[in-house]
Amino acid sequence: MSLSRLAPFVARPPADPGASFRACHERIRMFTAGLQRIAALPDLSDPRVPSAAAQARRYFAEGLPLHADDEDLSLAPRLRAVAPECGPLLDELERDHRKIDACLATLLPMLGTLAEEGRVPHATFRAAVSFLSGLLLPHIAREEDELFPLCARLSSEDRLAIASELVARRTPHAGTPHAGTPQAGTPQAGRA
Ligand SMILES: [Fe+2]
Ligand SMILES: [Fe+2]
Repeated sequence: MSLSRLAPFVARPPADPGASFRACHERIRMFTAGLQRIAALPDLSDPRVPSAAAQARRYFAEGLPLHADDEDLSLAPRLRAVAPECGPLLDELERDHRKIDACLATLLPMLGTLAEEGRVPHATFRAAVSFLSGLLLPHIAREEDELFPLCARLSSEDRLAIASELVARRTPHAGTPHAGTPQAGTPQAGRA
């Protein structure tokens, strides 16, 4: 058998986890920009609003928490072990996640109402979107600049373990729909 036919069966070095996390950040930027576009509309009775709000709600309710769990439960403990100096940064980033959760506790019901009824108090919605964007966008930029470069220090075993945990987190248990499972009609919206 030729070497080229064997290639798919030869173990490859595990991918850089930082690349997976950066890909999630692109989705965060995309859905945050979507929220900002809704908030900037002169009138929330625009017919495009309910479906855009439903899609944003699904991502921020289901996809974003998976990403935060990826960072807090899969990445952070391993980075603490190989780069102990990043402990204070990780503490701060985990605190940011809780602040983002608190902000979403206000914003998600508004998105649900927008999706179903097509109206919420516009100024309140704009303020919530602005507050979330102000937390989220600097947070992910900081992770990209200060945290993800440290992934270069992770061992192959750590990289494999992180990759498999990210997949497991998005895999439904038998008979139990999983929050991150894309559904028909809203493809990919729940992915982190
Ligand atoms: Fe984060
Ligand atoms: Fe992140």
